[in-house]
Amino acid sequence: MIRVKVPATSANVGAGFDSLGLAVSLYNEFTFEEAERLEIVSLDETPIPTGPSNLVYRSAKAVYDQLSIPMPGLKITQKNAIPMARGLGSSSSCIVAGILGANALLGNKLTSRQMLTMATAIEGHPDNVAPAMLGGFVTSVFDEGQVYSVKKNIDSGLAFAAFIPDFKLLTEKARAALPKTVAHKDAVYNLSRAALATAAFCDGNYELLSIATKDVLHQPYRLPLIEGGEELFSTMHDLGALAVYISGAGPTIMAVVPKEDHTFFIQAQKALDTVPELKRFSLYALSADNIGATVE
Ligand code: HSE
Repeated sequence: MIRVKVPATSANVGAGFDSLGLAVSLYNEFTFEEAERLEIVSLDETPIPTGPSNLVYRSAKAVYDQLSIPMPGLKITQKNAIPMARGLGSSSSCIVAGILGANALLGNKLTSRQMLTMATAIEGHPDNVAPAMLGGFVTSVFDEGQVYSVKKNIDSGLAFAAFIPDFKLLTEKARAALPKTVAHKDAVYNLSRAALATAAFCDGNYELLSIATKDVLHQPYRLPLIEGGEELFSTMHDLGALAVYISGAGPTIMAVVPKEDHTFFIQAQKALDTVPELKRFSLYALSADNIGATVE
């Protein structure tokens, strides 16, 4: 039996729309084995499709199809700790798991680059699937059907406070809220900050993150879709977060904080407990994951 564990991911990291992403310490777990027929089982309360539309199965099938190997029956189990449709890469974890699981069942015929490219083609952009596979902070570009990524380990002195609301926001809806075209000055605003964010993570220059994670391409359009989002941004900035940004397409909001700043977490929880606008958010204290998906 093949076991695959995939971390949650937080894409965009502010200005790096569809390019930057990082992996955090929350995991979905999967098992794969060949069987007489298709059987998909959720090992927790999470409802999942149990037929051929299941994303893990579809992603596994993409591997068999690419290698022109007939699809056998498969038994797949899923444990889903990453909440769905919250901007923490739950779909990417399913895609990555399906591809890695099938590749392992078939004797590891595909390279990492091939698998990353396949995962990106299924997801549509690389900023969740790349850190899900590689771990760490990953900068990616999808160019003419190929993914190019650079991974950098994240400093263990950083902590990630994920504010996960009790409501979903589908990526399709969050993408539909974006304008079709942007002004040249807005493009420059973001590309300079995305470059600065990458350099700041690589160099450990974390005081730059509050500037480097500012964005005008997606967050202003998405924040109104997140009840309590504006209040959460300003409260977490006031509490001294190094950066606050919408995780992926939202609705989770991520704050980056120094790990030793225990006061931040205490005060943040207090704010969630006492400020009415913030009552729909739960605080998850996470660390970086620098390992990425594992297969055994
Ligand atoms: N970069 C993507 C977006 C991440 O912001 O729409 C969500 O899948």
